[in-house]
Amino acid sequence: MNSSPIGMFDSGVGGLTVLKEVMKELPNEDVVYLGDTKRFPYGTKSKETIIKCTRDAVEFFITKKVKMIVIACGTATSQALEEIQGIYNIPIIGIIKPTVKYLSSQKNIKNIGVIATTGTINSKAWEKNLLKEMPNINIISKPCPLLAPMAEEGWVDNEIARLTIKEYLKDVDNIDKLILGCTHYPLFSKLIKEEISPKTEIINTGIVIAKYLKDYLSKNGLETSKSKGKCTAYLTDLDCKFEKIANNFIGKSINLKKAEM
Ligand code: DGL
Repeated sequence: MNSSPIGMFDSGVGGLTVLKEVMKELPNEDVVYLGDTKRFPYGTKSKETIIKCTRDAVEFFITKKVKMIVIACGTATSQALEEIQGIYNIPIIGIIKPTVKYLSSQKNIKNIGVIATTGTINSKAWEKNLLKEMPNINIISKPCPLLAPMAEEGWVDNEIARLTIKEYLKDVDNIDKLILGCTHYPLFSKLIKEEISPKTEIINTGIVIAKYLKDYLSKNGLETSKSKGKCTAYLTDLDCKFEKIANNFIGKSINLKKAEM
């Protein structure tokens, strides 16, 4: 048993899609969420910058005495996770490996689509990890750089979002699974569903991570002994729409503080 909080971070509101599922799956766990709103977006930044941002987040979580860290960000997972795991002793998980594990346990997958930020797509991290476990699949990858900024603006269900998604997905077809490789993208689930075949399963990494995390905590004796968890969210810049989006999306008000880092 370990009742310390879980640290979870993203550049902004994207990680809320992971937080929501974790709160559902593990309602007794405390979570410290960090949104690096000052340095958003991550998706257009260099690997070097993403490693620096991720190191800063880990250092912040160490001061909060977390028991483990979830990188609820596809860009930081693809560009910094390996490097960071080599530096710190604390358990750190990202969104790629648990998702690949989930998919590789399924049969008859031939074609997988991955949509994510430009940084994630250019890193080829999804391809490398998927092909290691599923060498015979075809992968179509597509950067969708406008979506995360639109999500930060709260534009997830309007005409501009619909047209943007239509344009991005126009040549992503005949796929069995569509991985939402950026954690901001499940905020557009409704519109994405409208644009792809009903036969394609949309993979929301938050759902996969929450189940993986539950299993991880139990296998490693890290579950909390508390009977009700709480979430505290820290932002590196409070001048943004995070609070409104978070309260709407999570469905309850989250305790928000300024992160000094
Ligand atoms: N939500 C993030 C991701 O999963 C970051 C998006 C961004 O900051 O550009 O990639």
